[in-house]
Amino acid sequence: MEILDLRHFSAVDLRPLLDDETQLWERSLSWDYSGSAAMILRYVDAKILPGYAAVDRGLIFGYAFFVYEGSKGVIGDLFVANGGRLPDPHAVETRLLVHVIETLQQSPGINRVEAQLLAHETGVVAQPFVDQGFHRHARLFMVLPLENSAKPATPSRTDIEIRRWSEQDYQPAAAVITSAYRGHVDSEINDQYRTLSGSLRFLNNIVRFPGCGAFDPESSFVALHPKTRTLLGLILCSRVRQDVGHVTQVCVLPECRSKGIGEALLECSTNNLRQRKFSLLSLTVTEANARAVDLYLRLGFDTKRVFDAFVWEG
Ligand SMILES: CC(C)(COP(=O)(O)OP(=O)(O)OC[C@H]1O[C@@H](n2cnc3c(N)ncnc32)[C@H](O)[C@@H]1OP(=O)(O)O)[C@@H](O)C(=O)NCCC(=O)NCCS
Repeated sequence: MEILDLRHFSAVDLRPLLDDETQLWERSLSWDYSGSAAMILRYVDAKILPGYAAVDRGLIFGYAFFVYEGSKGVIGDLFVANGGRLPDPHAVETRLLVHVIETLQQSPGINRVEAQLLAHETGVVAQPFVDQGFHRHARLFMVLPLENSAKPATPSRTDIEIRRWSEQDYQPAAAVITSAYRGHVDSEINDQYRTLSGSLRFLNNIVRFPGCGAFDPESSFVALHPKTRTLLGLILCSRVRQDVGHVTQVCVLPECRSKGIGEALLECSTNNLRQRKFSLLSLTVTEANARAVDLYLRLGFDTKRVFDAFVWEG
């Protein structure tokens, strides 16, 4: 088995592996990965996706890729097929990760590396990260079934106004995100939250690019102060499968918390998705973010899996 540069290969070589991976995401996360897979294959064909492939007798049975975002490297994905062909798929995952981590840590100008490996159970791929000095944060993948759950009675409120997300909200939403995550564990995991320009980049990625599903404006809302019309909080959702929504962001200004605004925003999204016959809403949350975890549990979300986020600062 050899580990080779992904740029030696074309979409035809990688497609069978991505078909396997798409099935895995469907089975374990109710997530339609086919859009992401198509995007990855386009980049592979263009020979612009940095990464590695695990190859045996000409066949690719594992791959990992990463992207550069300024002085940061982000590990995008790791997948090894486990169709009975491999005696130890975990050893292949480790070898791929060691290559990716070493490449990123040795890349000139790279002083930060982030990875969130949603499809891998906590601990399973942690060793190469821990060995290279990464911090590890447990994250939960939670789901709320929508089909049969009764619509909760929402008390009408006069102290806040909630309306749909609109284009005009970018700048104020970035300001809310930056305040909401100041000193927060999630801004250790994702450094975009630390600055206004980073939060704008985050929003732009979520709303305009189909990386984390396709942005769903109908189930995305903002909470406003009824008199001043200033933005107090927001919830953004994407569509990750035809009938599955995913919360990509929910936050409330620190001074406005514990008044039920977070809950009201989540209810607006779940009600909208229920009306549109979605069957599931999912989200990810850092385990140490106890306040948010408690809120989701109270609303009926269940933990489907625990995965890890890794961060290295050089
Ligand atoms: C998570 C977050 C969005 C929750 O928002 P929120 O508006 O404070 O949430 P709610 O008020 O609806 O519910 C949370 C708390 O308020 C309480 N609460 C709910 N309705 C209430 C009401 N009418 N009056 C008083 N308290 C109320 C809840 O019991 C809960 O208890 P707590 O005060 O012990 O935390 C907010 O804490 C936040 O922005 N955190 C930082 C960003 C973040 O972590 N986002 C989630 C990432 S996955």
